Amino acid sequence: MRIGLLTGGGDCPGLNAVIRGAVRKGVASYGHEFIGYRDGWRGPLENDTMTLGVDEVRGILPRGGTILGSSRTNPFAIDNGVEQIKDNLAAGGVDALIAIGGEDTLGVATKLADLGVKVVGVPKTIDNDLSGTDFTFGFDTAVNIATEAIDRLHTTAESHHRVLVVEVMGRHAGWIALHSGLAGGANIILIPERPFDIAKVCAQVESRFATHYSPIIVVSEGAVPADGGDMSLVNGEKDAFGHVRLGGIGDRLAHEIEQRTGKEARAVVLGHIQRGGTPTAFDRWLATRFGLHAITAVHEGDFGTMMALRGTEIARVPLAEGTDKLKTVRPDLYDEVEVLFG
Ligand code: F6P
Repeated sequence: MRIGLLTGGGDCPGLNAVIRGAVRKGVASYGHEFIGYRDGWRGPLENDTMTLGVDEVRGILPRGGTILGSSRTNPFAIDNGVEQIKDNLAAGGVDALIAIGGEDTLGVATKLADLGVKVVGVPKTIDNDLSGTDFTFGFDTAVNIATEAIDRLHTTAESHHRVLVVEVMGRHAGWIALHSGLAGGANIILIPERPFDIAKVCAQVESRFATHYSPIIVVSEGAVPADGGDMSLVNGEKDAFGHVRLGGIGDRLAHEIEQRTGKEARAVVLGHIQRGGTPTAFDRWLATRFGLHAITAVHEGDFGTMMALRGTEIARVPLAEGTDKLKTVRPDLYDEVEVLFG
């Protein structure tokens, strides 16, 4: 078989490990051939390809980013996009695709599978917000980066008796904030799933100072105040999937806290640092196994499926299960840690 691979959406540590796992096993166990499509769905849309074989995947296991490049191209937003993809696959003799991506990239894969394209999905996102799988790779790396940052920020916050607000990624889901905030001993964690009460946040800041500690607040970029005011948008720019570019809640929150409590408050935005660099051992383990299982799913003709981590096993679930509904933080998981706030 000749199999096309692509990586779409925001990049994520572990993408290269998936590519390597799929190619190595595909060649060694099944004698398959591969072709790399550049920059997500833009690759098959414009027939932009690269050679992909055992030589090309040598040494990429610990490398962050993706050797295939990525984009947020949405073929369903382009006239004749789907037909173009089908034509290019047929012309290139490509029998099947492995699409590695998050809600948008796999959302496209789900629709293409319904239209008869032979595709298998691998879930990735540092946000960990895809359903059907216990974890996505990239999340563990992002949590570790954020936790290290929080550890470092504690000591400087203490020295200066200031509030430090750490803004982490998480558009709709607060997984990174919850896990890194818990691991880093944050004093307040604010997530999109639980609109926050600014008066309560300020009271918690003051109670923290009263015990001679400086508060660290971890906030997801998508967190919003309970009064419905929209403090998070810095501009109205949207990507091809209609998502507004977020960022800015950290600064707005620091400003508000300073105004209301009189305590100096500063914001630190971790941004793309959370997505860059080498994956953790866990993410390499998960990503490699996703790659190994994805190529077997293709070999067995089990199209329209997505690889998923269930406990310690890799399972196959229908693509739609991963993309229909975002996996957000369950209320009880947030309630559990609230006792540590303030
Ligand atoms: O991968 C998802 C994500 O990390 C979101 O948390 C964030 O909003 C988005 O990517 C930002 O990505 P970019 O800056 O590449 O558009």
